[in-house]
Amino acid sequence: MPMQQPDPEDNGLPYFSEQDSEAVVNARMGEDISPRLRQVMSTLVRHLHAAVKEIEPTHEEWLAAIQFLTATGQMCNAWRQEYILLSDVLGVSMLVDSINNRRPSGATPNTILGPFFVDGAPRYPLGADICLDGKGEPLVVHGRVVDTEGRPVAGATLDVWQTNDDGFYDVQQQGIQPEGNLRAVFQADADGCYWFKSVKPRHYPIPSDGPVGQLLGRLGRHPNRAAHLHFIVTAAGHEPVITHIFTPDCPYLAQDAVFGVKQELIADFQQVTDPAQARRYGMAAPFWQVEWNFVLAPAAGTASREELIGRITAS
Ligand code: BEZ
Ligand code: FE
Repeated sequence: MPMQQPDPEDNGLPYFSEQDSEAVVNARMGEDISPRLRQVMSTLVRHLHAAVKEIEPTHEEWLAAIQFLTATGQMCNAWRQEYILLSDVLGVSMLVDSINNRRPSGATPNTILGPFFVDGAPRYPLGADICLDGKGEPLVVHGRVVDTEGRPVAGATLDVWQTNDDGFYDVQQQGIQPEGNLRAVFQADADGCYWFKSVKPRHYPIPSDGPVGQLLGRLGRHPNRAAHLHFIVTAAGHEPVITHIFTPDCPYLAQDAVFGVKQELIADFQQVTDPAQARRYGMAAPFWQVEWNFVLAPAAGTASREELIGRITAS
């Protein structure tokens, strides 16, 4: 049987042309497809074709782009997700996070999760020291978990993790750092209060030995993240918060490699020299302290901590 020729009257756009490229491609989608997939793909094709028309890449440039994406995929393994890193340095991770976590005014904002959260961190009593390698400037972190009305969120769970004083997470230095160094799970008391001992965080580079690091170099960008402690704060009946607190004196605050800094998350780290205050915390002066209150937005039917962690560790 001879092959049926497309009828140009069917949809008016059967053949490719530079001018109608987007419309020709999008017209190929079937009728019975997911409306969301139709929306996503037609938007992507529209913007992709517009970018190609504006850039007018040579074949060599187009091939270099394909090779970059290939190398990015080849860098991925169980520990390394180079595509998420690419999304991070392009500001897309923060944009997706912002769109999905619009909060009432006064509630603690989210920021980027990052790749170094691991489930199964040690659970410690309030006041524990989470620094197991003895490096860094001692720090006391304390505060309350409250709701947007200022009421205590009794028993809220706080997951915390940070790099050591050399700028690495424990999972990046297995066999070098003690396992579980500088990560913990705490439960706030009946007044929503929490406190623990740690060390003042320092800025550190995101993994930059792959295609994303090369891209940053070629763009004249550094790979450093502003100094921070990570938190996930969860409590039944409240929206979970995945966030950081930042030191105010970090030189990379305004140029964080993944755009994770928000003004509202810059904390006030104070140096304490008073021996009486040091004794109250069981510390030796001088040490740093930061008071930080987390404000959770009430929300019915939100995911439990376990569900949330299952979701964020699935990628
Ligand atoms: C982090 O803060 O741990 C992080 C965030 C994004 C990319 C790499 C690291
Ligand atoms: Fe981090």
